Amino acid sequence: MELDTILLCHLTVSFVAAMTIMVGAWSAARLLRPGKQGGEGEGDASVDPSVAAAAKRRRKMRKKKKKGKGNLPNPQVESENPNSPPPRSLLHLGVIMDGNRRFGRSKYADAGGNEESLANTSIPTGYLRGHYDGGMKLVDFISWCIKLRKLSPSPCLSHLTVYAFSSENYSRPPSELKALHNVFMSFCGTLISKANDWCLRVQLFSSDGLKKMPKEVAEAFVELVEATKNNTGMVLNVCVGYGGRDEILNGVKGVVEDFKSKVVDFEDVLKMDDEGFGEYLSGGSKTPLALKHLNLPPAAKPPLLDVVLRTSGEQRISNFLIWQCAYSEFFFLEKTWPEVEEKDLRRVKDDFERRVRRFGK
Ligand SMILES: *[C@@H]1O[C@H](CO)[C@@H](O)[C@H](O)[C@H]1NC(C)=O
Ligand SMILES: *[C@@H]1O[C@H](CO)[C@@H](O)[C@H](O)[C@H]1NC(C)=O
Ligand SMILES: *[C@@H]1O[C@H](CO)[C@@H](O)[C@H](O)[C@H]1NC(C)=O
Repeated sequence: MELDTILLCHLTVSFVAAMTIMVGAWSAARLLRPGKQGGEGEGDASVDPSVAAAAKRRRKMRKKKKKGKGNLPNPQVESENPNSPPPRSLLHLGVIMDGNRRFGRSKYADAGGNEESLANTSIPTGYLRGHYDGGMKLVDFISWCIKLRKLSPSPCLSHLTVYAFSSENYSRPPSELKALHNVFMSFCGTLISKANDWCLRVQLFSSDGLKKMPKEVAEAFVELVEATKNNTGMVLNVCVGYGGRDEILNGVKGVVEDFKSKVVDFEDVLKMDDEGFGEYLSGGSKTPLALKHLNLPPAAKPPLLDVVLRTSGEQRISNFLIWQCAYSEFFFLEKTWPEVEEKDLRRVKDDFERRVRRFGK
């Protein structure tokens, strides 16, 4: 028992360190303005000199071009520079789909009536309709990702991970929760009818095991996961009842549990690296304790999270994939989630593939 406690302390210290690194990565995030390219390596002091020189040359070139015709740099020219790192494709995209309520408020004049009646239809009305539009936007967004996968010469967008409902969101007013539950049911119903044609596989990332969701909502998600488990195309990870800190904490508890039942010994734990610990997180081979009661099929592990995209002008991570985003690039869009267009996805992909990634080396 005492050893368990010591072990937990050890682990907690390392995770605090990991979180510190994560916060550092976050503060390096840059703002994407429409039509403007994020600067590469700007303000980074620990840069390989040859890469820094190449970046300087590119900046010069860009300045020259701006003076001339005011064009954006031509990506083709940049990638031909022998000092540029090889282009990387966007494999794993994470999206914080923010602004549904704001969109609803601005688009749907308040229908009057009490909130409960607005929420109590399969398509919520009044401003709550914004949540429905957001759910349907996700269906469109998935179809754009699948289209891009087909068009891209190299593999891309193998995983899309979306933040549908955070553990903090349970504190929304009851009428809004009701509207969201209806939207989740509509979303699962719509997606289940398309997923097999799209060869789409759906996974559930949840740090609370949907225990606070109504039974029929939890069942709809589980059915969607079960019905698509054999599909081999893109993987959609839906974060519902999800919090990144809880996910890490659950991972620690999973390790302690394995230690207690002698699946791992003390040496294994001391030697465990981030990859090994990652098996205890969402998508890993060790089913998180919080999900065990749902009997989900074995997970498909996502690759590194390349990009976090957040809409609606907020620049916070809000407890989304905080372990996984250590090396992610961040993109922020001013528009709300239901206003997102196909060209925004393409811009994020193109811009990511132009940015220099050094993984801190
Ligand atoms: C919600 O809808 C159901 C069935 O459509 C109805 O029986 C129930 O009374 C409604 N509740 C509210 C609060 O409007
Ligand atoms: C829902 O959760 C997300 C992430 O924590 C947050 O950005 C958003 O503001 C929350 N919305 C409400 C209404 O609580
Ligand atoms: C998935 O494949 C297994 C094994 O071939 C099969 O038994 C099962 O019915 C399939 N499930 C679905 C939902 O296609």
